[in-house]
Amino acid sequence: MSEAMRHWRRHDDPQGITWLIIDCADASSNTLGREVLEELDRLLAPLESRPPRGVIVCSGKPSGFIVGADIREFEQLADEQQAYAMVRQGQGVINRLARLKCPTVAMIRGHALGGGLELAMACRYRVCADADRGTLGLPEVQLGIHPGFGGTVRPIHLVGVPAAMDLMLTGRSLRPARARSMGLVDRVVPEENLEDAARALVHRPPPPRRAPLQLRAMNLPGIRQLVARRLRREVGKKARREHYPAPWEMIDLWVRHGARGDAAYDAEARSIARLFVTPTSRNLVRVYFLQDRMKGLAQRAAAPVKRLHVVGAGVMGGDIATWSVLQGLDVTLQDREQKILDAARERAGKQFEKRLRGKDAVADAHSRLRTGTDVAAAADAEVVIEAIVERLDAKQSLFGELEATVDGSALLATNTSSIRLESIGESMRESGRLVGLHFFNPVAQLPLVEVIRAKHSDGDAVQRAIDFARQIGKLPLPCASSPGFLVNRILAPYMNEAMHLHEEGVALELIDEAARAFGMPMGPVELADTVGLDVGLHVAEILGEAFDRPVPDSLRRKVDAGELGRKSGQGFYTWRDGKAQKGDVAGKQAPEDLEDRLILPMLNEAVACLAEGVVDDEDLLDAGVIFGTGFAPFRGGPLHYARSRGLDTVQARLEALAERHGERFRAHAHWARLDA
Ligand code: NAI
Repeated sequence: MSEAMRHWRRHDDPQGITWLIIDCADASSNTLGREVLEELDRLLAPLESRPPRGVIVCSGKPSGFIVGADIREFEQLADEQQAYAMVRQGQGVINRLARLKCPTVAMIRGHALGGGLELAMACRYRVCADADRGTLGLPEVQLGIHPGFGGTVRPIHLVGVPAAMDLMLTGRSLRPARARSMGLVDRVVPEENLEDAARALVHRPPPPRRAPLQLRAMNLPGIRQLVARRLRREVGKKARREHYPAPWEMIDLWVRHGARGDAAYDAEARSIARLFVTPTSRNLVRVYFLQDRMKGLAQRAAAPVKRLHVVGAGVMGGDIATWSVLQGLDVTLQDREQKILDAARERAGKQFEKRLRGKDAVADAHSRLRTGTDVAAAADAEVVIEAIVERLDAKQSLFGELEATVDGSALLATNTSSIRLESIGESMRESGRLVGLHFFNPVAQLPLVEVIRAKHSDGDAVQRAIDFARQIGKLPLPCASSPGFLVNRILAPYMNEAMHLHEEGVALELIDEAARAFGMPMGPVELADTVGLDVGLHVAEILGEAFDRPVPDSLRRKVDAGELGRKSGQGFYTWRDGKAQKGDVAGKQAPEDLEDRLILPMLNEAVACLAEGVVDDEDLLDAGVIFGTGFAPFRGGPLHYARSRGLDTVQARLEALAERHGERFRAHAHWARLDA
């Protein structure tokens, strides 16, 4: 039988334990695809009739246990019926494992996510190698679905309602120690003791774990409704049902079936089958693969950078340095004045305390961040990032100093938002090594980095910049050197339009609500206030000049009056305790075309960017806009959204808006050239 197996090995040890070792063929990590589950089913059949002393399920891969279902198979699901059949079949295999008469143990090293954790929960015991990072979780919600192999049922009994719901609704990953304290795993041991601990559970099996009575009591029908009300309130703060149905469906499932009996498993399968074919899930799966594509732009073989030098310890430079230290690099940070460096170090210290565990790790991070006013510290850096004041003369003179100081092989990068790289390069001896690495504020939270290739940039320098961005955990987006690059370019017409609407008398709150109803994470007015109106004005001026687009008067007036948004306490909104004070919109009427006036200019600009070759293709454009602006991920990106609405429809709508509101809405000529 074992000859026919591609993904599993069976080993019967002298103590009578059967080891089932998953080692998926042609893959670096294990996933539970159809073939993998079918093989497991065949392995389990003989164990049912002749149970061994115990069964231990483990991974043959150094990379971890099982990272989840095979997401590529999701894309092949033609309809709900097919999805239902697939899920029911998978549930059948997992239930078979759960019903074995002997002790069963999941021996987990590394990630056990999604279907991987569901399989582990079907075992009687779970033993886990200790780790300092989140390795166990049910992240299905991020793909617009919920667990489907019993994962909406088993955790309720294992860890109780609140913890189980938290796992499913947030999709977060738990560290093994946390999973142990909540009862999700039975033992957490150092990696070298893993096998002994798994064997011990077979030889001296304790009573299987169940959640404490008070947590299980929440599963009683009367209490369920009360708990569900609270859960729905929490979910409602983060996700609208019409945009993200999955978390709402999870709560409904539990309320209806109380995680009991085959009805609960069947309902889980029916519900996930429906979710699989929703546009939300299809688009979130698309976003998952777009993210993979961006990660894949980096060359795996590239030797990691160890030494980074950052010049400018302001908002951006300080945060880029801090982030890079957190990613394990040795960083020198340079500014003109010691007091600015001291302030940057203090900010860094707070981040280290927040993100690192233990005094030693914090002390180590501090030792890897050195600050000073002398450019000589750049001498042994492999990568240098400039983040000084946004002035061409200052940047030119700095790069002159850097060229005289750094090693000939060092990569030189600028974080400029608006100065042409070609102009900075003019005064350099070897401008080929200059590229842009455009980070977003706040650096720790925004995943995208635009990697800018100027006309003079060497291909090798651009690739190294992509590799570096990836090394520090960011998503690299290669962009041409063009005003606003991609992200600011797309956001500008959206923000401008919000201000035009405001100038026409539309309530700020209605404008923001329309954007959020579309699926943007924050409305454009609140976003402008949050970023800072002075920063926004600067971008609007640069792009206004480049593309002959007037800067909204209201924006200029605010900045002239010193009303800069959140940071000054007053912008378009008044801000208190970090919150915009919004008025009630009840009774206020939004213009019929409000949403399109905000969203369609972004699509039009996206098409312009494509026409000009700012990014290479539609997928990268969608990815950049989603990860750079938060553009409604469940819509799959601006161009994907345009396609789902119909290219002709969107063009016609833009033309109608142009007739009504002005030339700024005129459909770009390139729409007609997009492949239908
Ligand atoms: P900032 O004003 O907060 O910091 C600039 C720092 O550079 C200051 O600490 C200043 O003392 C220092 N500096 C100026 N000239 C210097 C020199 N010759 N040598 C050493 N240090 C020098 O500015 P911020 O906001 O951090 O921006 C820096 C760069 O990043 C700019 O090019 C900006 O366009 C870009 N950027 C800014 C973003 C933002 O949201 N603030 C976002 C993305 C890029």
